[in-house]
Amino acid sequence: MIQSNLSKEDMSSVLSKAFKDKTLFSPDDTAILFYNLNFIQEKISDLQNLFPESALHAIAVKANPLTKILAKMQTFGVGAEVASLPEFHLAEMAGFAPETIVFDSPCKTKSEIEYALKAGVHLNADSFDELDRIGEILKTIRSKSIVGVRINPQVGTGTIKSTSVAGDISKFGIPVNDNREKIIACFLKYDWLTGVHVHIGSQGCPVPLVIEGIRKVLDLALEINERLKLNSAQNRIETFDIGGGLPVSYHPEIQPVSMEQYLAMLKTACPELFNGQFRLITEFGRYIYANSGWVASKVEYVKREPGYTIIMTHVGADLFLRKSYNPADWHHHITVVDKNGNLKTGTDATKYIVAGPLCFASDVIARDLELPVVEEGDYILIHDAGAYTLSMWSRYNSRQMPKVAGYYTENKGFEILKDRETKEDLYEFWS
Ligand SMILES: Cc1ncc(COP(=O)(O)O)c(C=O)c1O
Repeated sequence: MIQSNLSKEDMSSVLSKAFKDKTLFSPDDTAILFYNLNFIQEKISDLQNLFPESALHAIAVKANPLTKILAKMQTFGVGAEVASLPEFHLAEMAGFAPETIVFDSPCKTKSEIEYALKAGVHLNADSFDELDRIGEILKTIRSKSIVGVRINPQVGTGTIKSTSVAGDISKFGIPVNDNREKIIACFLKYDWLTGVHVHIGSQGCPVPLVIEGIRKVLDLALEINERLKLNSAQNRIETFDIGGGLPVSYHPEIQPVSMEQYLAMLKTACPELFNGQFRLITEFGRYIYANSGWVASKVEYVKREPGYTIIMTHVGADLFLRKSYNPADWHHHITVVDKNGNLKTGTDATKYIVAGPLCFASDVIARDLELPVVEEGDYILIHDAGAYTLSMWSRYNSRQMPKVAGYYTENKGFEILKDRETKEDLYEFWS
């Protein structure tokens, strides 16, 4: 079983090396996002080794759209789950073959559907109306696409409302409870419809709930296959997309459910998924990236007041949008190192608040923290920052996106995955 979180000792040692690499750090780099590229590769191998070989692992681009990482992912033999046409283009340009791209946008235009069908990517329809649009377009073109339909199993929301999508009311997919017969009728009407898709949320949904959602859609798929057997010996639903959503740990001391354990639970609850009648698609994002990335951000000022101390640093709500707006739902562990990257020890008598550089009050990424004595010029290491961070970058105050650097555990040096934005890049963005 692979470890779930990177250790603070490893991060500190990587940062010490990074400081010495003059091609990497410049005085303008007040914050850098690091990715352990071996860790990402291990997660992918884990998926590939645990699931049946025929499964397509379409990694969610929304979790991390860095093109250099996408290009690497493509060489690892996985696919890309894309939730918008621009993400679709990123995947195409990074080299993903059409049959490895899964297009899931909940708001596809007619021309986007036509583009996807002509390209031959896997397409998951989000509604009855979208199925009708696909039907109309397929009358006019030939397509190699496999088409599925997203079902909301309505098994309830998890602990994080903003990322749970399987409540009774959800903007995603077709709610199953009141639409069972109508969904079956669609399969009768459209012989090109051969897949189902379910994804109930990201991070906040406990594994048993994720599995309950899949089981509910599996029961529907089995019923459809049974009923449609009257017309054909072949199973109509051949592709089953189980989505992503495996929660990860943001606390170094908490062990999450591993991919191995998840799969074992899934096999017990849904054995029919593994008896060869379905080709599986997965859409993990957070599991691959969250624990592989971390941020080193310089402590610019330390504001000491009676009873509390505020660290002013260089990333905040711009990079940690969810944490700043929904602080109770999200957590990032924080470690302090000195200006050479060495871990600081001890505990200061005062509690710390970690505030970002933006001009609004919620630009805070941690409160009530016990830390060693923090001084100007130290760095804070923000753990588990690899997913849904840069992809949700906020342009407020127009701060430049930080540099992103990849590294390998076997000491191969650093690889710039994205340069820090220049003032010209920024001017261009707003022009
Ligand atoms: C349709 C779909 N698939 C996959 C994912 C990836 O989820 P996660 O990153 O939690 O694995 C998401 C994220 O919300 C999603 O909406």
